Amino acid sequence: MNATPTWKTLSEHHAKVRHLHLRQLFAEDPKRGARLTAEAVGLYLDYSKNRVTDETLALLLGLAEEAGLRQRIDAMFRGDKINVTENRPVLHVALRAPRATTIVVDGENVVDQVHAVLDRMTDFTNRVRSGAWRGHTGRPIRNVVNIGIGGSDLGPVMAYEALKHYSDRSMVFRFVSNVDGTDLAEAVHDLDPAETLVIVSSKTFTTLETMTNAQSARQWLLDGLAGNVKAVAKHFVAVSTNAKEVAKFGIDPANMFEFWDWVGGRYSMDSAIGLTTMLAIGAENFRAMLDGFHQMDEHFRTAPFERNLPVLMGLLGLWYNDFFGAETVAVLPYDQYLKRFPAYLQQLTMESNGKQVKLDGKKVEYDTGAIYWGEPGTNGQHSFYQLIHQGTRLVPCDFIAFANPLNPLGGHHDILLANVVAQSEALAFGKTPDEVKAEGTPNWLVPHRVFEGNRPSNTILAARLDPETLGKLVALYEHSVFTQGAIWQIDSFDQWGVELGKVLAQRIIPELQSASEPKLGHDGSTNTLLRRIRKMRASP
Ligand code: F6P
Repeated sequence: MNATPTWKTLSEHHAKVRHLHLRQLFAEDPKRGARLTAEAVGLYLDYSKNRVTDETLALLLGLAEEAGLRQRIDAMFRGDKINVTENRPVLHVALRAPRATTIVVDGENVVDQVHAVLDRMTDFTNRVRSGAWRGHTGRPIRNVVNIGIGGSDLGPVMAYEALKHYSDRSMVFRFVSNVDGTDLAEAVHDLDPAETLVIVSSKTFTTLETMTNAQSARQWLLDGLAGNVKAVAKHFVAVSTNAKEVAKFGIDPANMFEFWDWVGGRYSMDSAIGLTTMLAIGAENFRAMLDGFHQMDEHFRTAPFERNLPVLMGLLGLWYNDFFGAETVAVLPYDQYLKRFPAYLQQLTMESNGKQVKLDGKKVEYDTGAIYWGEPGTNGQHSFYQLIHQGTRLVPCDFIAFANPLNPLGGHHDILLANVVAQSEALAFGKTPDEVKAEGTPNWLVPHRVFEGNRPSNTILAARLDPETLGKLVALYEHSVFTQGAIWQIDSFDQWGVELGKVLAQRIIPELQSASEPKLGHDGSTNTLLRRIRKMRASP
């Protein structure tokens, strides 16, 4: 890509505009703050506080065209096998397509399959929430424990936290992901197995962490229910693509909710992987969330690039990543309910676009996926914002805010909103030495109190955080990841980088467990660490 005419022009253009200050850009164009905005499906994006001129935007949009983004979008929505290394279509958009839609994969309309599963999930959810589904001893289900990891955990836990306001408060929801026994032990320590439903969520149903946790949860259940294996059928359900492994584990395939290999783990929160979310917020709210996703899908598919929110965000991110050399993006939601949103985005963005070779297997000659991180505001302001304001690194920020609170409490929401607006203003415009001096600051202190400004940000605004809006927001990021992946010409839908560690861990487990001293064949560091761990365990 970096050999194309537009990329080269962008490089030259960058050299010309890199020192332009946002103060100057706003002074030259009083309408900039209203002009460089875009609005779609109820989300408002202010991208005026980015270090771009109209020429930059035109070039970036040209880059998207040149990279064939339009064709890539069409290929994804059509169900082409764009995940080339796994030879699979990428059809999370089918998970939220209305019933009447047709998307054919291998001769079958997958939208019919999606709705059949959604209907089963709805029926199950209604039975659990109404108390019609009973546990083994006849008691209703009060607690739900989701066991999964990666996409089979981060989406459900993020959505549960984000939509807690809409959840059934008489039920308890816990999420277990880490193979560290502490995670499961703490999740179930105060739960009554007779009132607990365990949802084992795993696309493959072979993931070591999830299977280990599921086995231990099964034992916990049996210990609490007099060892009666018949209890498992009433207290365990599975969400998976792998019916064979589900049956092998001992879960009746009748209690399995299916999804398909054309759904990537990190794109699966609105498949059956969302069963916990549906149990928490109810089927109607879940479908409203799907509708939000779909609205953003349609916007992404049809809107011209210059008004297309995911395309604009993807391009702006690429501008900092590849031309300014920025390494990270901070995602800063000013909403406590979105506290797990940055963690969710880390898998979405970094597992998707953390790639070093292109689709053709050749090494990329430019940087790909940025490092995503963040915390809700205003908390972050009192920890890491110092670096964003006055540090030596460029950290583009995404601020996310909602005009209306879900918990109106005195002046809290005005204070919250004032802060999010103030932060982007401070980052962009800063405070000059003259302004600092004019406040009577002694000369020696002036440099310490200067804010250079010119630190870019997007602000995403919506009326309120509801299920529909959450769907729109997640889809916005999904498609902005897609936009970047298309331009970088990488496979955003595989994750080979997680394999090696898994394989090595399998080899090491018996070396740790062996009663006699094992013969170790690793490198010097790994051998020494293993011996040290074995020694420490032998004599605590
Ligand atoms: O971390 C690798 C990964 O394959 C993710 O892509 C996936 O979301 C996660 O593991 C869990 O996989 P599964 O749902 O198959 O248990």
